[in-house]
Amino acid sequence: MAGITSSAFRNICLDYKAGLVFSEMISDKGIMYDNKNTTDLLYLEEHEHPIAIQIFGSSVDTLVNAAIYVEKNTKCDILDINMGCPVPKVCIRSKAGSALMKNPQLIYDIVSNVVKSVSIPVMVKIRSGWDENSINAVEVAKLIEQAGASAITIHARTRSQGYSGKANWDIIKQVKESVSIPVIGNGDVIDEISAYNMLEYTKCDAVMIGRKALGNPFIFRRINQYLNNQNVTNTTTSEIKEVFIKHLNGLIKQYGEKTAVSIFRGIGPTYFKGFKDSSIIRSNLSQAKSYKEIIDIITLINN
Ligand SMILES: Cc1cc2nc3c(=O)[nH]c(=O)nc-3n(C[C@H](O)[C@H](O)[C@H](O)COP(=O)(O)O)c2cc1C
Repeated sequence: MAGITSSAFRNICLDYKAGLVFSEMISDKGIMYDNKNTTDLLYLEEHEHPIAIQIFGSSVDTLVNAAIYVEKNTKCDILDINMGCPVPKVCIRSKAGSALMKNPQLIYDIVSNVVKSVSIPVMVKIRSGWDENSINAVEVAKLIEQAGASAITIHARTRSQGYSGKANWDIIKQVKESVSIPVIGNGDVIDEISAYNMLEYTKCDAVMIGRKALGNPFIFRRINQYLNNQNVTNTTTSEIKEVFIKHLNGLIKQYGEKTAVSIFRGIGPTYFKGFKDSSIIRSNLSQAKSYKEIIDIITLINN
């Protein structure tokens, strides 16, 4: 997730047994122009596996070049191509992300050429379709499989839905029935019960968690425990604080204190959602200027 799934956060998700983590989406052109903000997003830790790096773009050549660059310059396990982003800057201005859902032939050309250009597995993330009158995930998924992709993630909302409205899990089920490569279901998995329900209902091979992982990497432990018939571990305040500090330290390691603190002003409060004083915590954290100030704020939290 853009702005969220930094290396620091991904490592925590892996600690909590996420099966696979993804980078933020990374612009193919940004990679080619060697833009520092873009190439920073390719930063991985040595032990950060399995990891997919996700790229986005709208033309075969630039995506192929970016894919080759990623394979050559990172130790990622999988290359993922974004065909789901609904943000106007990406899908209207750049005709990338979910705009590709309107052009299945271009999807085929992109995927087949990227697959031919790299030796690591290639995955593609799609949406149900552009809008409710053009739901074409099954057609697109079949083309992606024919083009040689190793797996598909389907976010079961249309581009017009953005991130609201209900995800239509029937589409995930239909995609799963139509292809033989692994299908990862996405949309509205909010806890261990919904993860189980999605797996049962759609028969997809794995579930992807987006928003509910934010400030809550513990969700991966809960889901694994639930699916393995184990007791689900409830998170304590001290564990939350510990992970919060680990996340902040990971950001400082990569970006230095000033930038890390500024990134964390937005992300940090999500760890304390649902706490008695969550709005005060949010407001205090949003004004913090240093590592020490952040630590002082959370030391006072005991819920
Ligand atoms: C702030 C934000 C940033 C996101 N960035 C990306 C991204 O970079 N790449 C991507 O494939 N999906 C991205 N997504 C979409 C999520 O991965 C996911 O598909 C979507 O939120 C639906 O899943 P959920 O219901 O579990 O949140 C983003 C979503 C949000 C809310």
